[in-house]
Amino acid sequence: MKVIHTIDEMRACSRAAKARSGHLAFVPTMGALHQGHLSLVRAARSRSEAVAVSIFVNPTQFAAGEDLAVYPRNLEADLKALERENVELVFAPLVEEMYAPANLTWVVVDGLSQRLCGQSRPGHFRGVTTVVSKLFHIVEPDSAFFGQKDAVQVTIIKRMVRELNMAVSIEVCPIVRDPDGLALSSRNAYLKPKERESALVLHRSLEQTRALVEAGERSCERLIEAAKQEFRAQPSVRLDYFAIVDPETLEPALRIESPVLVAVAAYVGNTRLIDNVVLRA
Ligand code: PAJ
Repeated sequence: MKVIHTIDEMRACSRAAKARSGHLAFVPTMGALHQGHLSLVRAARSRSEAVAVSIFVNPTQFAAGEDLAVYPRNLEADLKALERENVELVFAPLVEEMYAPANLTWVVVDGLSQRLCGQSRPGHFRGVTTVVSKLFHIVEPDSAFFGQKDAVQVTIIKRMVRELNMAVSIEVCPIVRDPDGLALSSRNAYLKPKERESALVLHRSLEQTRALVEAGERSCERLIEAAKQEFRAQPSVRLDYFAIVDPETLEPALRIESPVLVAVAAYVGNTRLIDNVVLRA
């Protein structure tokens, strides 16, 4: 496994890997790797012999006052985990390698980037689409693997790839959870034991929504109200949003008639967590 810190070397190595194996699969991450990330690496590995992973805590996707400075970083453990998964290339650039001091160029998916997490985290998705575009230009992968955990991110990246005619196929992998249902996240490391317990309300609210839909409820207003009730019973958790939307346009759905994305974000103490489920009528 080769660990690369510069853009020029990464470009040369990924071109060589691609030429040799015929396909390069890519998994972008911000590190602090857990089984959710590794599930993407395994999916990439089953698609292609040559796999590249990036580890880069992207400053432009953190809004002012967010957790950029304390975001968990553990390069040594991450590299060991990736070595065990037979990853060929790891791209771990410094911020100065990725961004000019006064970066003026941004990739923005208008409209979609202002919805859901984009509303509570101004500039977040602009940072994501910009860094993912840069990584795609550097790595030039044939396929790139993303987690359904960040469902809105997936919607926005698919739209960007389609509308900018990028030659990469976007593959989406299911959410990996702890046995009690909590979706794995690098940010779970911030949770104190009591907070971790309270955090289960995210998954519980989604499961409740699923059960109500299975029992025949079709009104999104009533489903959202039931979920909000669940959060009111857990006052230590502050709901950011609980939304039922069209998975492509992210517009609010009124009734469950076609597949919907049910997405939730909430603050457990100072930790912002997200989760979601896709439901069909
Ligand atoms: P990060 O939060 O490190 O996540 C990297 C990838 O792992 C994302 O595609 C995310 O959806 C996926 N992932 C995280 N937790 C998961 C889980 N429990 N189950 C399945 N997949 C999971 O997402 C980012 O980084 C960044 O925004 C990035 C795309 C790298 C751009 O900076």
